[in-house]
Amino acid sequence: MPDRTRVALDGVPETLLWNLYQRATEARRPDAVLRDPKAVELVDALDYPFAERFGAAALGQWQALRARCFDEEIRRFLGDHPDGQVVALGEGLETQFWRVDNGRVRWLTVDLPETVELRTRLLPDDPPRRRTLAGSALDEEWLRQADPANGLLLSAQGLLMYFEPDQVHRLLATCAQRFPGATMILDGVPPWFSRRTAEGRMRTTQGYQAPPMPWAVDAAEKDRIRAIPNIAGLRDLRPPRGRGPLYGALFPLLNRLRPIRELGVTGLPVMAVRFAR
Ligand SMILES: C[S@@+](CC[C@H](N)C(=O)[O-])C[C@H]1O[C@@H](n2cnc3c(N)ncnc32)[C@H](O)[C@@H]1O
Repeated sequence: MPDRTRVALDGVPETLLWNLYQRATEARRPDAVLRDPKAVELVDALDYPFAERFGAAALGQWQALRARCFDEEIRRFLGDHPDGQVVALGEGLETQFWRVDNGRVRWLTVDLPETVELRTRLLPDDPPRRRTLAGSALDEEWLRQADPANGLLLSAQGLLMYFEPDQVHRLLATCAQRFPGATMILDGVPPWFSRRTAEGRMRTTQGYQAPPMPWAVDAAEKDRIRAIPNIAGLRDLRPPRGRGPLYGALFPLLNRLRPIRELGVTGLPVMAVRFAR
């Protein structure tokens, strides 16, 4: 077996390994709700103690359905804008490009330098269609590299919860002003979840502790987002139907009810925020 790639990440960047592990574990199943062979390849290529650190990947399907919620929105966008650009902020080791590629999309990954160092070793750039930028989503550089000429979709999957609320609001305000007519898809955590991370109570029995997630989403926060200048609308996205009595029957039923969806138990809140033209 070839040498596996050593991983030395901590803090927020390490969370990408939890997501990857859950997704890959689901993708290994014959009845998986997400086809993601690239995620499986990555887990197999990494020298990282996934099971010792995170335990059994009990939330594989939950995580895979969240990823599919983003995938479906990206496919919809590519249906309208086959030559459009997707900017994936905080992409970590997401393998979404390989799930949704239409052969024409241009894809820009933006992540912190330590994450990009790992990502580009495993998933080298393939310009001009697929490029990676090392830097913060809160910096200016990626805004200059985003290209709305053939349609632009911004994606922040598993990222904004790690920011302070005013950082999220400023980022949305900047994007809305810079990219009229574009959309950002994003997810968040509900307030109870955010509080638990602040108190250090989001941890696995193996001792891995999730970092604080200061930005939380509830109905009031959605109203604050809608009130940001140049934001034309905010739409909740519902995870697709999954497998088994919970994900295949109960959760889809409960997810029809907004107040239950906002509790974040049946799936974390995912939204599409549309910028005014
Ligand atoms: C929970 S992971 C999500 C990874 C991926 N989007 C997914 O859903 O699997 C959080 C990601 O955000 C990245 N990140 C943290 N702070 C960032 C920042 N200021 N700008 C860009 N990326 C950031 C981390 O490096 C990591 O890749």
